[in-house]
Amino acid sequence: MRAVVVDRWMEPAELVVRERPDPVVGAGQLGVDVKAAGCNFFDILLVQGRYQVKPPFPFIPGGEIAGVVREIGEGAAKPSDHRAKPSDHRAKPSDHRTGFAVGDRVLAAAPMGGYAERIAIPASFAHRMPDAMSFEEGASFPIVYPTSYAGLVYRAALQPGETLLVHAAAGGVGLAAVQIGKALGARVIATAGGPEKVRVAIEAGAEFGIDYNSEDFVERVQEITAGKGADVIYDSVGGDIFDKSLKCIAWSGRLLVVGFAGGKIPSVAANRILLKNVSVVGLHWGAYAKYEPARIPETFAALFQLYEEKKIRPVIYGSYPLERAAEALVALGSRKTHGKVVLVP
Ligand SMILES: NC(=O)c1ccc[n+]([C@@H]2O[C@H](COP(=O)([O-])OP(=O)(O)OC[C@H]3O[C@@H](n4cnc5c(N)ncnc54)[C@H](OP(=O)(O)O)[C@@H]3O)[C@@H](O)[C@H]2O)c1
Repeated sequence: MRAVVVDRWMEPAELVVRERPDPVVGAGQLGVDVKAAGCNFFDILLVQGRYQVKPPFPFIPGGEIAGVVREIGEGAAKPSDHRAKPSDHRAKPSDHRTGFAVGDRVLAAAPMGGYAERIAIPASFAHRMPDAMSFEEGASFPIVYPTSYAGLVYRAALQPGETLLVHAAAGGVGLAAVQIGKALGARVIATAGGPEKVRVAIEAGAEFGIDYNSEDFVERVQEITAGKGADVIYDSVGGDIFDKSLKCIAWSGRLLVVGFAGGKIPSVAANRILLKNVSVVGLHWGAYAKYEPARIPETFAALFQLYEEKKIRPVIYGSYPLERAAEALVALGSRKTHGKVVLVP
């Protein structure tokens, strides 16, 4: 099969496609023909050797895929998550993980291996896709949407009618947060760098857009909320954006820590948390598999329902053939893209 192969630490611009043996499909696994693979910022760090996980060479990057099941490993027809019970009002029992068959259209997040024509993944990682979902949409789904849903619903307890401020709202997790926030009945204010990204966030459902490169977002949020501030602030940027957010958060507001795309991990003086009853809450979607696995099928069931109700829809900035993986990751790293960048093997 053709795959993007990393055999030394390199810059994304140096990535090339090579021939590799097909992956062996083990017990409990699915062999999947990859139809589309999502690109993520951590793929860039992974190939540069700057990610917390440093796989042995050679490896194939790519942490999100959508494709068609071509082979079923022993015992994988019945994955073991049938015990999962929805505990949230939005989620409904779903069969999207109850037994797979050859030909099923699935999406999955996997640590790596997605930038290839074929992948073997644990069946427990896979979710059967809604019929209406394209493969490119499917490959754009399995990290950013669950991250934003878990952050807003489980951690920040966002309520209908509340004001949600989403930073970097045209980015991967940001756009998903705008759409989910609106679907949950919140009034969404979006910040983003530049007028084009602000436009993208407004098209995705934000009521107000602020270009934080040229405007003071604290002042604008205070104006928009008549001095009350935002009830929930979704922060995937960190640094100064986090610091300033504490100046425009509402009484009993929740400041959701999702990431540090700006490169600086902020710290906070505890008195500022005390003064306005603020909760600073963290979100680590990847760790749900270890600590609260039942939340995973519940989250996907709720998101697939929102997708089928046409309340959320991945925004795809660009779709590149596998051979142009280097170009795709360079574009992603340039901060010029919005939504998701995908590869199509
Ligand atoms: N906690 C979790 O479970 C979880 C899950 C997934 C992702 N994340 C994290 O969330 C963050 C965003 O991920 P993503 O997939 O949304 O990434 P993305 O699509 O690349 O978007 C990141 C956004 O951050 C903004 N940004 C601000 N400063 C930046 C800088 N110095 N370099 C690059 N971008 C910068 C950019 O928007 P503007 O140009 O508009 O400022 C960009 O659109 C990452 O740190 C990621 O690791 C966390």
